[in-house]
Amino acid sequence: MPDIKRSKLEIKSVTALAGFDDICGLLLAGDIAAIPTETVYGLAADSANGDAVAKIYAAKGRPSFNPLIIHVADIVAAQKLVQWDDRAQKLADLFWPGALTMVMQAKPDNGVASIVSAGLPTLAVRCPAHRVMRAVLERTGLNLAAPSANRSGQLSATSAQHVHRSFGNDAPPILDGGTCDQGVESTIIALRDHGWQILRPGPITADMVETCLGAIELPNDSDAKIESPGQLLSHYAPKKPLRLNVEMPETDEFYIAMGDVKCDYNLSSKGDLTQAAAYLFEALHIAEAASASKIAISAIPNIGIGVAINDRLKRAAVRE
Ligand code: TXA
Ligand code: MG
Repeated sequence: MPDIKRSKLEIKSVTALAGFDDICGLLLAGDIAAIPTETVYGLAADSANGDAVAKIYAAKGRPSFNPLIIHVADIVAAQKLVQWDDRAQKLADLFWPGALTMVMQAKPDNGVASIVSAGLPTLAVRCPAHRVMRAVLERTGLNLAAPSANRSGQLSATSAQHVHRSFGNDAPPILDGGTCDQGVESTIIALRDHGWQILRPGPITADMVETCLGAIELPNDSDAKIESPGQLLSHYAPKKPLRLNVEMPETDEFYIAMGDVKCDYNLSSKGDLTQAAAYLFEALHIAEAASASKIAISAIPNIGIGVAINDRLKRAAVRE
């Protein structure tokens, strides 16, 4: 993508890289590893092994009330975990493998360690599209619980360098699969008895879901926020103040923009939102590491995947 202005992250080497066979061996032995997906890197463990999953929470510093997504190789694997229905089948036929996570009632005796769902009666399942993640799922035969591979509350990682940046010397073994294509986390949809609800906007938009399931979207009420802590107001936060919708940056601000604009990092000079999403976390990582004391970003059109970008930016701009 030649039109992207890309300053380099100041990371000398990623010391924690590991090979495919080693990573699969670690996961089978109950350890954790960072693995690329098409959205962001995930920090994975065997979802049936409670001790292994506990290592994810410890490494991330993640509150144990925040449940994890289970990554499955295919629909058959998902059907063993959740109470599958026609809506799930339609969505999976259209969007799997891909960036759609479905929250559904868990099946009894599903074999998933209770720590994965943080005590909820539901499970979140996703069949990822990234060839490396798919190869790991197929080789190990495991269902992998994996949150984003960053310390809790920090920026998500869309490259092995970002994972290393977030964890530093304590970085887990990382399988380097290059840069993630999509760059924002999967859409999370809850399939309720009487309709569906988007808990987190992502690459699969509400319009795309509506085309598939019909317009029975339930209001995204406060219950949903409690249920999906990824919706907490402050999240994905860079370590510097972030100002939104900026047309004229201050001199001490690292300016991120899109379109034909003079800036420090251009998300997409041709104004393409898909490209902007893919580079969003890269831009924020670079801005965080830059010498400027603050970050400013231009307005991002709130259409299509722009809704997911703005959701992440809104949370990134809130300081606890
Ligand atoms: O694209 C993605 O979804 C990435 C890659 C690695 O797959 N994963 C990811 O995981 O973003 P994480 O943990 O950062 O976000 C998962 C979100 C959290 O907000 C969590 O609260 C929600 O999913 N979640 C998990 N299980 C849930 C459940 N049973 N009900 C409601 N929300 C759930
Ligand atoms: Mg996350």
